[in-house]
Amino acid sequence: MAAILLFLLLSAYYSAGTAQQSPLNISLGSSLTPTSNSSWLSPSRLYAFGFYQQGNGYAIGIFLAGIPQRTVVWTANRDNPIVPMNATLVLSIDGRLVLQQTQGQDIDIANPPDSISTASMLDSGNFVLYNSARNVIWQSFDHPTNALLPGQTLKAGQKLFSSASETDSSRGIFGLEMQADGNLVQYPVGTPDAAFPYYWTSRTEGQGPNATLNLEDDGHLYLLVTNGTVVNLTVGGHPKNRTIYLARIDVHGIFGLYSHSLDRGNWSTIWEPTNKCDPKGLCGVNSFCILMDKVADCRCLPGFDFVNQGNWTTGCERNFTVESCKSKAGNVTYDMRSWDNMQWENNPYEVLEATRQEDCKKACFEDCNCEAALFRDRECRKQKLPLRFGKSTTDSTITFVKVGILVSYTQGVPSNLPKINKEVRVDVLVIGITLTTFGVLMFVLTGVYAHRNRLRAYKNISEDVNVEYIENVAPRAFTFAELEQATNDFREELGRGAFGAVYKGILPNSQKVVAVKKLEKMLEEGETEFQNEILAIGKTHHRNLVRLLGYCIHGPNRLLVYEYMSNGSLADIIFTPEKKLNWDYRIEIASQIARGILYLHEECEIPIIHCDIKLQNLLMDEKRCTKISDFGLAKLLKHDQTKTYTGIRGTKGYVAPEWHRKLPVTVKVDVYSFGIVLLEIICCRKNIDWSLTEDQAVLEEWVYDCFEAKELHKLVNDEEVDMSKLERVIKIAIWCIQDEPAIRPSMKKVLLMLEGTVDIPVPPCPTSFLSSK
Ligand SMILES: *[C@@H]1O[C@H](CO)[C@@H](O)[C@H](O)[C@H]1NC(C)=O
Ligand SMILES: *[C@@H]1O[C@H](CO)[C@@H](O)[C@H](O)[C@H]1NC(C)=O
Ligand SMILES: *[C@@H]1O[C@H](CO)[C@@H](O)[C@H](O)[C@H]1NC(C)=O
Ligand SMILES: *[C@@H]1O[C@H](CO)[C@@H](O)[C@H](O)[C@H]1NC(C)=O
Ligand SMILES: *[C@@H]1O[C@H](CO)[C@@H](O)[C@H](O)[C@H]1NC(C)=O
Ligand SMILES: *[C@@H]1O[C@H](CO)[C@@H](O)[C@H](O)[C@H]1NC(C)=O
Ligand SMILES: *[C@@H]1O[C@H](CO)[C@@H](O)[C@H](O)[C@H]1NC(C)=O
Ligand SMILES: *[C@@H]1O[C@H](CO)[C@@H](O)[C@H](O)[C@H]1NC(C)=O
Ligand SMILES: *[C@@H]1O[C@H](CO)[C@@H](O)[C@H](O)[C@H]1NC(C)=O
Ligand SMILES: *[C@@H]1O[C@H](CO)[C@@H](O)[C@H](O)[C@H]1NC(C)=O
Ligand SMILES: *[C@@H]1O[C@H](CO)[C@@H](O)[C@H](O)[C@H]1NC(C)=O
Repeated sequence: MAAILLFLLLSAYYSAGTAQQSPLNISLGSSLTPTSNSSWLSPSRLYAFGFYQQGNGYAIGIFLAGIPQRTVVWTANRDNPIVPMNATLVLSIDGRLVLQQTQGQDIDIANPPDSISTASMLDSGNFVLYNSARNVIWQSFDHPTNALLPGQTLKAGQKLFSSASETDSSRGIFGLEMQADGNLVQYPVGTPDAAFPYYWTSRTEGQGPNATLNLEDDGHLYLLVTNGTVVNLTVGGHPKNRTIYLARIDVHGIFGLYSHSLDRGNWSTIWEPTNKCDPKGLCGVNSFCILMDKVADCRCLPGFDFVNQGNWTTGCERNFTVESCKSKAGNVTYDMRSWDNMQWENNPYEVLEATRQEDCKKACFEDCNCEAALFRDRECRKQKLPLRFGKSTTDSTITFVKVGILVSYTQGVPSNLPKINKEVRVDVLVIGITLTTFGVLMFVLTGVYAHRNRLRAYKNISEDVNVEYIENVAPRAFTFAELEQATNDFREELGRGAFGAVYKGILPNSQKVVAVKKLEKMLEEGETEFQNEILAIGKTHHRNLVRLLGYCIHGPNRLLVYEYMSNGSLADIIFTPEKKLNWDYRIEIASQIARGILYLHEECEIPIIHCDIKLQNLLMDEKRCTKISDFGLAKLLKHDQTKTYTGIRGTKGYVAPEWHRKLPVTVKVDVYSFGIVLLEIICCRKNIDWSLTEDQAVLEEWVYDCFEAKELHKLVNDEEVDMSKLERVIKIAIWCIQDEPAIRPSMKKVLLMLEGTVDIPVPPCPTSFLSSK
């Protein structure tokens, strides 16, 4: 109690201290009415406490009065009905803040533990009630609704809830909770039995119990976790004068930090950790979210219609039921529709192995219980409706849904159709179904015999989402304790990359040395999506790829276990003059890398774009064989993260120009990065080195200059190199780093050129085909 009081005193002191003018004292007996257009203003007139219009009536709250677009930052009794025009808000003589209505009882707006003596609307946006000893006995900052203002704290256990709509500030369907375990989590409210309902977390679980979310005057938004550790969400330090900061969760579930410049009169986004399609449940059941020019849009599955046009959250439905499938009534038949690249909540009642999408489609078609099937990566997941949490992705899932088709003849035959058509149609249907049945039967039989064990294992996951089934197929699931033991509590850090830290470990049973990667900044996905990625990675087998041995899912933690590469990264080897490798060996390394990338692009089951080819990701094993690491992980990274980390490296990094030009990312981004890597291997220097003279600092520019001037010997520091070979390799590299993706050769072509089996034309200047700029 004393602590709370102290806190209140301090915050009152703090608030009063920051206000430029002393706040007005609202005395007992003061009142407001909706129609008088009056409110209690803060001294700077920026914030106001009072009535604001909502629907056909009014609500009471705090809003930014000093800017043209009224922005509500706090709402009293947000779930109560709207307030009628003839109500009055009174700071009553007996020390209560109440809403008086002509009929019915007075409604308390605040419930302080003591009688109110005065009230103040502070410049911080905090509405404060004092007792006669001028202690703060209640403040709006302690009862946040959908927003946080600078100076305000979201304490462990407190939540923000979105508003129902832009014009209705009652509680909506998205929440942000500062959990007692230290994790800050965004989740949809009221979606029962979702396996992984949250759509964003700060990944600070286990750092409670008293973690808080804080916003400072300069836009610094951070978590204060155990032992006073600061976890920054934004770094702050933005210009402070005449700028308002506001963190809030909006109607569509997006939580972010925004600033408003009083001079420019506009809002800008400082930080938003999710994209507009991430909030689960934004699009209701049987609909999915796609980003149209960065704005979320909900679409119904094919064959479905919105239950309520204009209200996304109600979702979509179809005019066809399982019963009509079972009853086989003559007037209804059904069909399968498909849609590519959609992701759904994974909730199958049965999982089959299917090599072809056609098999999956048939399997669902034949099963009246099956209302939809998701095919991906040789797996056919039969699901029942509703499908939830749909959003478009770049993965290769094919969604099949069963739709009903009304066979129109029962309602009278269209006059231009001879009646005979009916029979023909039915016959065709029957034959079709028979054939399909036969096909499915064959498929099922073969499937059952060939994959009996695996099938049994797959069945597990429909019963409970069990992680073990993956063990049989590919990388092994480790427990967190096993990995803790193997790495001796993550003692020896080998390095740190875009995905997190890597630790050395020894597997207890096999005594095998491994590298354990703790993933950070992961895309917010459920276990199954993660497992799917792991499966895809685990299925890659190539001598120039680092082997994934296993993984671990431990709460929100994701760890990957790789074979250990004792000779470290090429970055270390190539850039350390003492370790310099001879020319022939360097070219052999380049070929090995090219083979690895070629496999990823063209030879493995699902093509993988690495997206982050660089010397740091190219490792050498004890036999000095070069292997590519971190492939397949780009998909696991958050979208915005991918953008920022590529952005940071800048135009002259390993990053292909299409990243910056919003062009689709294809395998050619890896070709570009390979070109840069090749140049670094040839010249044994970093791509960018500002310690060199200006004309040499950017390697790709210098190389092209030397190439044009026919001074290639400069590039290898007059090392003993066969000049014709050097010229060949330089030409390959220049082809790879063409700005225009279409001009870059495929990896297959690159390898042929490296192996000397094809001629290499003279490459154009890398920037000459640049389409824009
Ligand atoms: C409000 O009341 C407090 C304490 O009674 C006083 O110190 C302060 O000056 C008053 N503020 C104004 C603006 O009158
Ligand atoms: C309140 O003031 C605003 C702007 O001055 C005006 O547009 C609005 O009609 C007023 N409302 C009432 C109820 O007087
Ligand atoms: C106040 O408004 C409510 C709702 O609009 C209405 O039912 C009630 O009769 C009004 N009371 C008076 C005294 O006008
Ligand atoms: C958390 O806060 C409570 C109440 O202020 C306090 O008793 C407890 O010691 C705190 N725990 C930690 C780990 O700081
Ligand atoms: C917090 O501090 C205590 C005591 O100094 C220490 O035992 C504990 O490990 C620390 N916790 C974290 C998460 O750093
Ligand atoms: C967090 O942000 C603060 C304020 O901008 C800064 O001083 C601090 O160094 C940052 N901490 C980390 C770990 O980045
Ligand atoms: C910000 O405001 C303070 C006083 O209000 C003033 O001293 C300072 O110069 C201002 N800074 C900028 C960058 O305008
Ligand atoms: C606000 O205005 C500034 C300067 O005019 C501009 O740079 C910024 O992009 C604007 N922000 C938005 C969200 O329009
Ligand atoms: C949309 O529908 C949901 C569920 O039926 C309902 O709770 C919500 O109020 C509706 N939203 C709007 C803006 O009409
Ligand atoms: C289909 O036929 C059944 C009777 O055979 C009838 O009850 C039902 O309404 C018909 N459905 C449609 C959509 O016409
Ligand atoms: C469902 O509606 C679609 C058009 O919206 C129609 O083509 C189809 O025949 C209908 N199916 C049934 C079973 O009524």
